Amino acid sequence: MTGLIVVIGSMNQDVVCEVAKLPGPGETVLAVGSRTNPGGKGANQAVAAAKVGGCVEFVGRVGRDSAAAALRDSMGAAGVKTTGLREVPGVRTGRAYVTVAAGENQIVVDPGANFVWESGADEAELLESADVVVAQLEIPLAVVAWAAGLARRFVLNAAPAAQLDDDLLRRCDPLVVNEYELAAISGAATETTEQAGQAARSLCLRGAPSVVVTLGAAGSVLARKISDSVEVTYQAAPQVDSVDSTGAGDAYVGALSTALADGADLPEAVAFATAAASLSVQSPGTHAAYPTRGQVVSALAAVPPAHN
Ligand code: RIB
Repeated sequence: MTGLIVVIGSMNQDVVCEVAKLPGPGETVLAVGSRTNPGGKGANQAVAAAKVGGCVEFVGRVGRDSAAAALRDSMGAAGVKTTGLREVPGVRTGRAYVTVAAGENQIVVDPGANFVWESGADEAELLESADVVVAQLEIPLAVVAWAAGLARRFVLNAAPAAQLDDDLLRRCDPLVVNEYELAAISGAATETTEQAGQAARSLCLRGAPSVVVTLGAAGSVLARKISDSVEVTYQAAPQVDSVDSTGAGDAYVGALSTALADGADLPEAVAFATAAASLSVQSPGTHAAYPTRGQVVSALAAVPPAHN
């Protein structure tokens, strides 16, 4: 039986423009299409975790508006419980402006209600009862640190990047970052897979029990403390045609968290998450693009074995 996952984080309405090429500074481009999607790293990770079979509760903040209602519906349809979702009067639900071109994206987030936060005792109880607590950095860092202090196992997706103090780092098992976030947090170069492995190792030496670096089509790197040393392994990803990478990192974190709550060890969870993310990039959008458990289990056959 799967354990309880509590995701504490953001919900956004994504306003998505599809373009032929991402605009540069000062450039105006015409969209070939546009749409609104449910989004926000927290909501995405909760839905991704539930779709692969996780028992998921969500803690977050929204405005009292139609965007919040659509987000609630999308999470409910995936089986995410939203008893910890509170409406903040007089503030708009978070909104993200997403530009997508040839499988790549750029995102600007207007946080709205995601940054208006008073924590309650009932939420503390929920966080303490979870097998795995999952957070990201689209809500105040102080709230993330509070949740980490209550968690039995804490997974932090440090996106967007922020400086993390050593107390918080020590609680992350794992810290999940992409190569840009890893560079910002570690101060090290992360241009090659080997550099990413070294930078992840340095964060383990600073205190993180484990660090996962997601590298898109290049797969991911896992660094974890084992006794007095740090083991680094590389997990390649199946080669697929990406149509939209928006929220693929969230598919990864959600699937990883469900695997951990099911009792998988980190290398197994990384392989499962790799399969989930490779499926999510093959369809546009976020919640609708996330795979089911059966789809991930089938795709696992195409995930290469990890190596040192
Ligand atoms: O990770 C993708 C998400 O980042 C989008 O859904 C957007 O809302 C931003 O939070």
